[in-house]
Amino acid sequence: MKISVIGAGNVGASTCYLLIAKEICSEVVLLDINKSIAQGKAIDMMQASITLGAKTNIKTTHDYQDIENSGIVVITAGLPRKEGMSREDLLNINIKIMEEVVLNIKKFAPNSIVIVVSNPLDIMNYAALKLSGFSKNRVIGMGGMLDSARMAYAISKRAGSTKEIRACVIGTHGEHMVPLLSQSFVYNHAIKDIFDKKTCEEIIHETKNGGAQIVKFLQTSAYYAPAASICNLIEAISNDTKSLLPCSVWLEGEYGASGVSIGVPVIIGKNGAEKVFSLPLSEEERERFRESVESLADSLNIVDKYLQNINH
Ligand code: APR
Repeated sequence: MKISVIGAGNVGASTCYLLIAKEICSEVVLLDINKSIAQGKAIDMMQASITLGAKTNIKTTHDYQDIENSGIVVITAGLPRKEGMSREDLLNINIKIMEEVVLNIKKFAPNSIVIVVSNPLDIMNYAALKLSGFSKNRVIGMGGMLDSARMAYAISKRAGSTKEIRACVIGTHGEHMVPLLSQSFVYNHAIKDIFDKKTCEEIIHETKNGGAQIVKFLQTSAYYAPAASICNLIEAISNDTKSLLPCSVWLEGEYGASGVSIGVPVIIGKNGAEKVFSLPLSEEERERFRESVESLADSLNIVDKYLQNINH
């Protein structure tokens, strides 16, 4: 499969490198408005791939024609979150970039499955879905997988093991995310039954704070863990694994929400987001999820107004 990655910054380049190192696809196209950055990183990666004995070809470009026949297009173009900047602050900048990128995907890779990574994630995924007109299964936001990895890390530190840990975070990819204590496990035991209340609260806090903590140290947002989650999602699609992964998708009544894209557990296969999976949530988790959906309202209004303006 040919995979295109739009944006050769930290997340895009790290994704590209993992795709090559794991030989997940035959060809990767790395597109950036700054062709020099994409080219420099691609040469470095090709030299690494010789050392690794990998066989994936990499092409760098700033011409969207080169993404033709891509099976999957990953959108990482946009500004990353800086310290003190909320994901919503990014909205007004990244929506314009999303418009340009999505209209080109529609033109040159109309049959692709689109993975949105640019923040604010759930809002950008909503915009990508509306701008593309693609069916809802073909526009997937990668946020919940990363949050779940952060939760799994917080659990692993307490469990003293990185094996047999499953964590699940739904809701928005942001401050209103909903880490699910009832659906996170160590050796098939729900963590709420293993750890005391205070430890569970610490796990939730670390999960929610995971991204901001990295921004504080790096002065820019994370990229290794996002790239790993993107690659897992790509492998689930290209190998048709039917994996259950928390992704931001368009909802039509599932989990009591409609007309939004937000993180829920989804069965991922060759057709993209094939089915929203219904997990039993506790009363409190349902309430937190409802608040999470509500938190999107103002941003969605901004996007809707923007979309109305460009349609006139
Ligand atoms: N078309 C193509 N590429 C673009 C465009 C555009 N219109 N606008 C910006 N870019 C490119 C930049 O040139 C840059 O190389 O997007 C890249 C973004 O890279 P970084 O600034 O390193 O950001 P990164 O850390 O990779 O994050 C990208 O993913 O996780 C999210 O919040 C994050 O929205 C951000 C995105």
